[in-house]
Amino acid sequence: MRGLIIASLAAAGLAAAFVNPGTSHQVSRRKTLGFGPMLPHAEYRTGPFDIAGSFLESKDDPYEVARRFVEHRMRDVSSKSTYSIRDDSYTDKATGVTHVYVRQSVYGVEVADANMNVNVKDGVIISYGDSFFRGAAPDVRSLLYDASSTDVHASHCEALSEEMDSRLDDYEESLAFESESSQVPLRKRNVLGHTSDLFEWNCAHVATPYKLAAIAGFASNDPNEVSGAAKAVLQFMAAATPDTSLSEDIQARPFAYLDAIQSMPESHFQGAGAGENYLAVHLENVPGAVAPVKTRMALVQVPQEDGEVSLELVWKFDVEMEDNWYEAAVTFASPHRIVSVVDWASDSPMPAPVEARAPVPKEPVHPAATYNVFPWGINDPESGNRSIQKENFDGLASPLGWHALPYANDPQSSSAVKQSGKVRNTTTTWGNNVFAHENWEGRNSWVHNYRPDAGPEMVFDFKYAPKETEREDALEEAKKYINATITQLFYTSNLVHDLYYRYGFDEVSGNFQQYNFGRGGKENDAVIANAQDGSGYNNANFMTPPDGQNGRCRMYLWNTATPYRDGDLEAGIVIHELSHGLSTRLTGGPANSGCLGWGEAGGMGEGWGDFLATTIRSTKEYSDFPMGAWAANRVNGIRNYPYSLNNTVNPSTYKTLDKPGYWGVHAIGEVWAQVLWVVSQRLIAKHGFVDSLFPPAPFENGTVPAGEFYRPQEFAADGAPKPLVPKHGNSLIVQLVLNGMKLQPCNPSFFDARDAIIAADEVLTGGENYCELWTGFAERGLGPDARVDGRTPWGGGIRTDDFSVPRVCKGANEPDVPDVPDTPDDGDDDDDDDDDGDNWPWN
Ligand SMILES: *[C@@H]1O[C@H](CO)[C@@H](O)[C@H](O)[C@H]1NC(C)=O
Ligand SMILES: *[C@@H]1O[C@H](CO)[C@@H](O)[C@H](O)[C@H]1NC(C)=O
Ligand SMILES: *[C@@H]1O[C@H](CO)[C@@H](O)[C@H](O)[C@H]1NC(C)=O
Ligand SMILES: *[C@@H]1O[C@H](CO)[C@@H](O)[C@H](O)[C@H]1NC(C)=O
Ligand SMILES: *[C@@H]1O[C@H](CO)[C@@H](O)[C@H](O)[C@H]1NC(C)=O
Repeated sequence: MRGLIIASLAAAGLAAAFVNPGTSHQVSRRKTLGFGPMLPHAEYRTGPFDIAGSFLESKDDPYEVARRFVEHRMRDVSSKSTYSIRDDSYTDKATGVTHVYVRQSVYGVEVADANMNVNVKDGVIISYGDSFFRGAAPDVRSLLYDASSTDVHASHCEALSEEMDSRLDDYEESLAFESESSQVPLRKRNVLGHTSDLFEWNCAHVATPYKLAAIAGFASNDPNEVSGAAKAVLQFMAAATPDTSLSEDIQARPFAYLDAIQSMPESHFQGAGAGENYLAVHLENVPGAVAPVKTRMALVQVPQEDGEVSLELVWKFDVEMEDNWYEAAVTFASPHRIVSVVDWASDSPMPAPVEARAPVPKEPVHPAATYNVFPWGINDPESGNRSIQKENFDGLASPLGWHALPYANDPQSSSAVKQSGKVRNTTTTWGNNVFAHENWEGRNSWVHNYRPDAGPEMVFDFKYAPKETEREDALEEAKKYINATITQLFYTSNLVHDLYYRYGFDEVSGNFQQYNFGRGGKENDAVIANAQDGSGYNNANFMTPPDGQNGRCRMYLWNTATPYRDGDLEAGIVIHELSHGLSTRLTGGPANSGCLGWGEAGGMGEGWGDFLATTIRSTKEYSDFPMGAWAANRVNGIRNYPYSLNNTVNPSTYKTLDKPGYWGVHAIGEVWAQVLWVVSQRLIAKHGFVDSLFPPAPFENGTVPAGEFYRPQEFAADGAPKPLVPKHGNSLIVQLVLNGMKLQPCNPSFFDARDAIIAADEVLTGGENYCELWTGFAERGLGPDARVDGRTPWGGGIRTDDFSVPRVCKGANEPDVPDVPDTPDDGDDDDDDDDDGDNWPWN
């Protein structure tokens, strides 16, 4: 019984395709893994939900409301299952919605993939996602000591493998069919790229290299011993490292590596009731890792053939590598298998809080900088010219400006200086939101990498005039404008920080800042932005660890033309990358970076970036847009189709995900971005278009003038101000998309994300755009009766488009009732709970 699993290499495959014939050097393919079980019981529902008025007395405390809701939902579940509210839960200041994230433990051991997110407003649950384990709690001790691995999934796996094989066959057929098309070399290489990274596929598990398991003494279970974790991590690394010689060496001399691995205890925690100690350690000297591997014992849910779900004991590893940052679950039992793996690094569109010590100044603490850059809105060097732009920072988002940060949060300052409580002013591309610099070496160091210095006058005016050269000199030619390109990357990244901040990606929701101004959230996590990163060509990527750890953006040169094109200068690519940080931190809560790992969820992680980049560059005069066209030197860009309202230009619908070639997150994301593009045009048709997506600057007292940007402020019956509503279609959709990310569950499907956007409109406007939103989604097949059958771990399944809209939207003469009334219920899920979206009207 074997099949083939394809890790998500779409990006790498495309990258390879851009190599000019005969110059196969210089292209690195980033290997990346992303898969995990689809939990059949995971659900997302939009409400409101109330349990027979029982919430009324606790209306004022959203956490109490959430607690009661969870208790109600879990009332029939074994008492060995406990829950706790995560401390990254928060209340969104703008909408008043409290996003409560709940963790489940069984026998005191965390169930790592059990997620509940409960969204509470005014004492009412407005929506929730729930993938908590509901089965009988196993005795964790028996899992520890009797962990003989059973292949319970055999026949289920066989079905999956067959599907995978047939998809591969279809794919090859489609290649033959399209052999006249110029796309073929690209796609063929894509397939070859995939097939070189095949793994033995065993249902929800990928086997780690067998050789290790076969070595005597290596396969035994090591309950409660660090060496068990070390063995498991070695096997994971043998599978995950892109360095084949390292992988072979680990398999040849495992004990040498094992002896070198040392553990540092992080904490011990008590198993509730059972008295065991479960380990949480840092493993040092793990081959292929660039930092100690955070390791803890956890449980994960594994679907069985009969539809039931069981728990499996795993080691959870956070493994930071050169090109990947994996969160992996590897079975505790040997032979160790990888149950799930999420790469916190996403490819491009391709082919301790300091007390509020630093005052919040009214003025920047140094002369405002100027930059010679392609201004905001100019997507790339073919769309306009450079000009001098001011450091137009947003006073709410960046109170210190872009070039200052407290010494206490400054990675370049010694601990003695850190105590000073003062703010450091810089004259380089080093600030509170972004550290931008060259990284020609392509490695992980960054603190002391080169940055341009603007001098005391803060003038970042550097030359950009690349000349046509011989190909072998193109790299040196690109390096000549490094000052300009770092400046551009810094400028674009800070504007993206400020823009997303104003739409609600703030400190409590997990944004990227060294210092959080005492506003909550975890700090010391500005974006590390590498310009001209030497680790690759024709791509870009972003790593999003949980809140409180720096995000890392790597931008590459593109050797698609001479002179080389520099991705740092294409705003769409930079925005796409930074949007990975946005969507990953907002989905499932700031502390959980594992919610957009694979399948539809991973695809949407790509799609939001394309959608936001395209929306940011769009203008009042409607136009279609390709993605990455300048850098890739291709009119239609790096996607299959430009984003367009025209069905001929872009025929993608939900069902398109079934097509061969749509397994990868980038292809899935392209479909999602196209759907959002169509939806956004519906809102623009209704509400018009605003030229600048930036809301007006706040008053000195911090309140925001409505101006032409927002509708006039409204107040609730009790006098509380209602959320500000962007007036225009393009600003409104950006707001709804961000608010939707906060409402949606961990591992959202297209349906969940669609429903979350519709729910976000209900919160923001009382649902006035209900029918425009449904009409837009339905135009691309995501109507209320769209469905997917037989979801598979890499995003497979058979999809059915629905182009209809809820009855209430069909015409003014229709009765104002839904097809299937989905009345507010008690939160049980035993009734009709498909994704029909027909839960209108709510109020
Ligand atoms: C930073 O700049 C401001 C304004 O120019 C100045 O008042 C402050 O002393 C500077 N801070 C340091 C540490 O030099
Ligand atoms: C850039 O400037 C040049 C010369 O000043 C002008 O000819 C060209 O049209 C400009 N390009 C764009 C895209 O505006
Ligand atoms: C970059 O700018 C610095 C001043 O910050 C200057 O000394 C240096 O020569 C410039 N480098 C290049 C390659 O132009
Ligand atoms: C859609 O695009 C096709 C191909 O470019 C074109 O022939 C057709 O006229 C377009 N349709 C509309 C409604 O613009
Ligand atoms: C904030 O300042 C503005 C403009 O000065 C004023 O209109 C508004 O009432 C102030 N708001 C508060 C809450 O003080």
